[in-house]
Amino acid sequence: MKKITISDIKSHKNADIPLVCLTAYTTPMAQILDKHCDIMLVGDSLGMVMYGMENTLGVSLDMMINHGAAVMRAKPSAFIVVDMPFGTYEKSPELAYKNAKRIMDETACDAVKLEGGQNMQETIQYITERNIPVMAHIGLQPQSVVKDGGYKVKGRGDEEIAKLINDAKAIERAGAFSVVIEGTVESVSQKITSSINIPTIGIGASVKCDGQILVTDDMIGLLSGHTPKFAKKYTNIAAQIDKAVESYANEVKTRKFPNEDYTYKK
Ligand code: KIV
Repeated sequence: MKKITISDIKSHKNADIPLVCLTAYTTPMAQILDKHCDIMLVGDSLGMVMYGMENTLGVSLDMMINHGAAVMRAKPSAFIVVDMPFGTYEKSPELAYKNAKRIMDETACDAVKLEGGQNMQETIQYITERNIPVMAHIGLQPQSVVKDGGYKVKGRGDEEIAKLINDAKAIERAGAFSVVIEGTVESVSQKITSSINIPTIGIGASVKCDGQILVTDDMIGLLSGHTPKFAKKYTNIAAQIDKAVESYANEVKTRKFPNEDYTYKK
């Protein structure tokens, strides 16, 4: 399959067919998802999904680089974006560039993603002017969970709506090639999408975006506990694993496994 480029991603602005995006953190999962996805995101959601953390704030740059490199070992055709974790880009554009460059060099991914709008305009511009493609992330920003006092849907008042549109315009001016809109009211996602010329990728942001992304482990039903309203479960992998492991345990206990088929005789 032909490698998806940044031009392919940009050409999805206002296209009939939206961009298909999912998270991936490991080689085998990336191999499974690749043929269906335009973009795979090595999201810092891996803190919760892979490491049992309460939120994304404890995710380190090394964790992102290790998982980014694992996904790249799948030799994906999809465009691969790696998240910049909390604390690695906020302090200064120079520090953000240094860490973005480490991610690019040590994973060979295609782009980085960071959270923020107008507050990150200068940083996004600094990084993109140095030839690292940046995807932005506005609306509900998981790295602001403590500051915001929880995961809150955005775009419910005039002030918030105006801020979101200004955020999107600032990101575009700064040179981001696309933007994730998370947890945002439909009419606002629509307004943002029609206000800028780069593709918007929604998660809990309605069908009015240029693409959609979900956390893979949510959509395959691998995660237990609370999942957000927007996270449609397309299957229940946890139940399938439970069944398989129950069969294995029963066969071990009754000495049915390993039978002759799984035994070296000489
Ligand atoms: O970390 C992540 O998985 C993300 C998606 C939810 C967009 O940022």
